Amino acid sequence: MQFSLSPANLSAWSGSVLVVGVHEQDPQGLIGELETRLGLAIAPWLERQRFQGKGGELAKVQLLRPEISSLILVGLGAAASPQLPALRQAAANAAKACNAETGSVGVLLPWSEQPAQATAEALSVAEAIRLALYSDVRFRSKPDPRTLPERFELLGTLPADTASALERVGAICAGVELARELVAAPPNSVTPAALADSAATIAQAHGLELKVLERADCAKRGMGAYLAVSQGSDLDPKFIHLTYRPNGAVRKRLVLVGKGLTFDSGGYNLKVGAAQIDMMKYDMGGSAAVIGAMRAIAELRPEGVEVHMLVASCENMVNGSAVHPGDIVTASNGTTIEINNTDAEGRLTLADALVYASELKPDAIVDLATLTGACVIALGEEIAGLWSDHDDLADGLRQAAEQAGEGLWRMPMQSSYREGLKSLLADLKNTGPRPGGSITAALFLREFVDREIPWAHMDIAGTVWSDKGRGLDPAGATGYGVRTLVNWICGGGAGANA
Ligand code: BES
Ligand code: MN
Ligand code: ZN
Repeated sequence: MQFSLSPANLSAWSGSVLVVGVHEQDPQGLIGELETRLGLAIAPWLERQRFQGKGGELAKVQLLRPEISSLILVGLGAAASPQLPALRQAAANAAKACNAETGSVGVLLPWSEQPAQATAEALSVAEAIRLALYSDVRFRSKPDPRTLPERFELLGTLPADTASALERVGAICAGVELARELVAAPPNSVTPAALADSAATIAQAHGLELKVLERADCAKRGMGAYLAVSQGSDLDPKFIHLTYRPNGAVRKRLVLVGKGLTFDSGGYNLKVGAAQIDMMKYDMGGSAAVIGAMRAIAELRPEGVEVHMLVASCENMVNGSAVHPGDIVTASNGTTIEINNTDAEGRLTLADALVYASELKPDAIVDLATLTGACVIALGEEIAGLWSDHDDLADGLRQAAEQAGEGLWRMPMQSSYREGLKSLLADLKNTGPRPGGSITAALFLREFVDREIPWAHMDIAGTVWSDKGRGLDPAGATGYGVRTLVNWICGGGAGANA
């Protein structure tokens, strides 16, 4: 799928599908222009279709003409409302209506007059189109009969440098798609070793450094919390450390940490009833997001920023050597932990990963994890939770998420709730009371981060998957987090330039 700018305007463009975005009341007078161009009475047809230009509306008509075979009108809502989300949603809807088309699609949208904003809009629209058309046929026995347009041409007035910005779309979307593929793949396919292989593929293709610590290496480092989680599985844990180094001087060093449970059965606190054990392949969504982001970063090669990615990958299973509820283990920073619930395993793996991250002495650490059902209850499936004691870091991530159209809401780091993690015998227990469960999870993680290093935690348990699909996400794995991280690191949010 290619994206380009077309110098042709409405009166000159020809191709297979013409997409036109219209605001309510059509302040740009686009429908009149279209009527002239096509010699058709479009306004009465739209009225019959009850198309008013509201967000989410779409009208498609087959013209069957050699110069334009179909026309799609998409609603953009009120012209006064924020444009980026409206454009993104309209582009995704239009793209889905181009399913089964071939050839080239012209996309005419009312781009902002402000050049930087217009370029950002074009980039978001191209991302929305590609991501909305994603489909996963890897596990079907027969090939996909679906056809897609080969080219999308952005029409209308856009700054010249938009063309080079569009070259970033491929890298970013490939990162999101990789994350979706990793999350959607079943747990008998994406194992800890498969995650390590996936990191190796990126390392090889883009010249990144890769180090994989085996069980014995982790034991030497005293990663007792992480290894406890993996000990009930027949599969070996893989601690994955991938590094991007820029050309030239390094001004910032960042660490991304992803929860990488390739399956979470709950352990002896087995997931039963409504706990959706059959979906727990997606418990490596954090690792998929950071691997996807690394793929994009490796291709975009931002200047001045060194990025480390850590994934303490394993399965949470039950067998004769699995953790007993009540076991006491020691993490690599010496903290002893009473595992009062084997289903709160993600924080145990992250604990040792965060200690390792802190030892790298970076300028910031960000972890992404499908950590708690409590976060899903609090924020639902469209918004991830963000915890940080550092306002600058939190704001940078929030802005990056907003620019990406990924929901992210800052949550309180309520220190008094740490009481709930006190154990009678050990330094900590891994589970506090049920109320505020996503907050105590964040407080647990904080115990393993060097307090000098700005750190943020994103709980993506709700956003990693969409049963029905929404916005640019088809049903299934969303690839949530990749675009937020790439924007944050490559867009100057906290990465290279800040
Ligand atoms: N992987 C789950 C969290 C989760 C739940 C992700 C639902 C996506 C959807 C995590 O390991 C877990 O089991 N958390 C427990 C923690 C509890 C035992 C304190 C939970 O949320 O129930
Ligand atoms: Mn669990
Ligand atoms: Zn889990």
